[in-house]
Amino acid sequence: MAITVYELIITGANVVSYRMEILDNFMTQFECMYTADQTKQLQEMTRNFLNKKDHSAEVINDLRTVLRFHEHRYYVMDDPLISDAEYDKLFKALEAIELAHPELITSQSPTQRVGSSLNQSFNTVQHIVPMLSLANSYNEDDLVDWDRKAREAAGIADIEYCIEPKFDGASISLIYENDVLTRGTTRGNGVEGEDITTNIRQVRSIPLSAAFSDFGVQQVEIRGEVMMSKKAFNRYNEMLAGLNLAPLANARNGASGSLRMKDPKEVAKRGLEAFLYNISYHTPTNDKEAVRKGQAFLDTHSGSLTLLWQLGFRSPEKEKVVVKGIKAVIDHVGEFEALRDDLPYEVDGMVIKVNDLELQEKLGMTTHHPRWAIAFKFKARQATSKLRSIEYQVGRTGSITPVAKIEPVQLAGVTVGSISLFNEDIIKDKDLMIGDTVLVERAGDVIPYIVKSLAELRTGKEQRVIFPTSCPVCATRLFKEEGEAVWRCVNIECPAQVVEKMIHFVSKNAMDIKSFGEANIRKFYELGLLKDIPGIYKLDYGAVSKLEGFGKKSITNLQEAIETSKNQPLNRLIFGLGIRFVGETTAKVLSNKVHHLLDLQNYTVEQLQQLEDIGVKVAGSIVHFFQNQQNGLMLRELEALGVKMTNEKRAVVHEGALTGKNFLFTGTLNKLKRSEAEELVEQKGGKLLGSVSSKLNYLVVGDDAGSKFEKAKKINTIRIINEDEFLSLVQA
Ligand code: IVH
Repeated sequence: MAITVYELIITGANVVSYRMEILDNFMTQFECMYTADQTKQLQEMTRNFLNKKDHSAEVINDLRTVLRFHEHRYYVMDDPLISDAEYDKLFKALEAIELAHPELITSQSPTQRVGSSLNQSFNTVQHIVPMLSLANSYNEDDLVDWDRKAREAAGIADIEYCIEPKFDGASISLIYENDVLTRGTTRGNGVEGEDITTNIRQVRSIPLSAAFSDFGVQQVEIRGEVMMSKKAFNRYNEMLAGLNLAPLANARNGASGSLRMKDPKEVAKRGLEAFLYNISYHTPTNDKEAVRKGQAFLDTHSGSLTLLWQLGFRSPEKEKVVVKGIKAVIDHVGEFEALRDDLPYEVDGMVIKVNDLELQEKLGMTTHHPRWAIAFKFKARQATSKLRSIEYQVGRTGSITPVAKIEPVQLAGVTVGSISLFNEDIIKDKDLMIGDTVLVERAGDVIPYIVKSLAELRTGKEQRVIFPTSCPVCATRLFKEEGEAVWRCVNIECPAQVVEKMIHFVSKNAMDIKSFGEANIRKFYELGLLKDIPGIYKLDYGAVSKLEGFGKKSITNLQEAIETSKNQPLNRLIFGLGIRFVGETTAKVLSNKVHHLLDLQNYTVEQLQQLEDIGVKVAGSIVHFFQNQQNGLMLRELEALGVKMTNEKRAVVHEGALTGKNFLFTGTLNKLKRSEAEELVEQKGGKLLGSVSSKLNYLVVGDDAGSKFEKAKKINTIRIINEDEFLSLVQA
């Protein structure tokens, strides 16, 4: 007995220390591609750049080197040495030099990742070496079997293996020629893929250039996986939720769905990362000395990962392990599986590769798979359960969300009993019937979802799902807009919506009224102490103090939190109003535009569409909100109750080169973002107008200018200028 306990402790301790070791590796101490001396020197250069105001064009290369260094620290090492604001400052300094000297811009400059144009179509291109898939193994026996065959073919007693995570993302292939990234492709059918270079350039951990020539490599094809980290995935889903859009099902879909997007800017928003794990092809340069240097790395798979790491790629250098013999492989994959949920990204198994590249060559491949590598798949975090019923929840915009109630099951450490189904189409697509056996999956800390129903297990007693035609709370007839998947209750007085709106209003990213959570809102609503958003500022504290659980202290806290919220910045108030499609970013754009919230009542759909990132759908929803009389009354009441509706930051009047002049922009600018140009106008004392009129002094015309341009041409007091002319006006 005593011995068993002792063993348990030892095993426990081993597991813990191993865990620490691997997780520590993800932290800082890992060897960087920059030496300590280089790092010191680059830090000094950074400080110098940050301390200086203006930078001459001569420093352009140093500035780029410094920016690349910090990108590497941030995106590859995950260990930044400067703040985001400092990075932005350096980035802006480079942009300013490039603005003044467009002839110095190169495609590898850190400023050149995000292009301004949309992808039209993706050309089909051939991979240099076909992209193979791997044979799978699921248990110890499969691995032993695979190793035996490899040993027999190789005639070796113990093979050296390199083990690395099997990254669960979307596979890509990159080509670098003469140190420059020239092509990025999807896997496609393995022989041909699609050229997605513009989107690949948005992935900040992929260097736009890398010094392969120092290692005697002229052309190289590299394989890897584009991933969305768990953090980026959750952040992106929170953003979607803010816009009342259905979340991505899992991080893999998030990554693969992004590769073929039309708009590279959208791709940039997903915060993608890339792991590069294989060099599939390379040609030598004429520099014999460099080739010899490279060869030292390129003899083994593990060496090639080190080389990639040295060149600034996020290769699995930290994660890889080299062992001899299959027994050690089996031990390692078991230990690594236990860490799965602690990793910052999703893995679905491990890949075991013969380390010696000459031996890889000798082993060759079957018709489908290389014999020198195998995937070991971790147990799927799936379970089956019974679909008991479907409930329908009413959201703050009236959206009806079906929620599957299943027999509770254990999945990756949590009990799952409710699963959101988002909309009616999902019920149809997955062919769900009440009573069905359903396959449920949950990856990492991602929300669980129903993969499918197992129709073959039906008994005949299952019942069809009948989607409601009226609101489950207020019985108003449901309505679905053309082209939408979501049914809505259109009664804005529907109690469910009213409550959800208040919950959103007080939430952390909106008015952030601490100690006024969901539970209190529901309780106060049910008791008749609160009926709408203005009611928050009219609470009868006397009545509240009579409720159980509301002592003096908690009432004071609540009162203070509510009082403080009156002065929240305007963007938080706008977000808190829960206008459909208006997330935190749009709320900021809107708040920057107006002096007083009610100014938005005067905006038309066309005017709103001129603002950054606001399309016709969002603009329509904003106009709809502000032209609704009840909303107008609510806003006036809020203001009377002391809620601040002005944008103080904007109210400051600047004096400068543009004082007394009115500006308007049309079309796409190339050097500045629209919002930056508008900010410049205001900083220099100018004013922005919403439309073309005789009050307008300057119309700044970018690419693809539309009707404003035509209209302005007819008024001869308006000066029509391009972006460069605008910039020289500003600088005058
Ligand atoms: S090696 C010829 N290593 O898993 C071998 N693949 O079916 C090329 N994957 O298509 C692949 N992590 O998309 C390799 N560390 C890793 C991997 C990995 C994920 C993907 C890859 C491949 C699939 C295997």
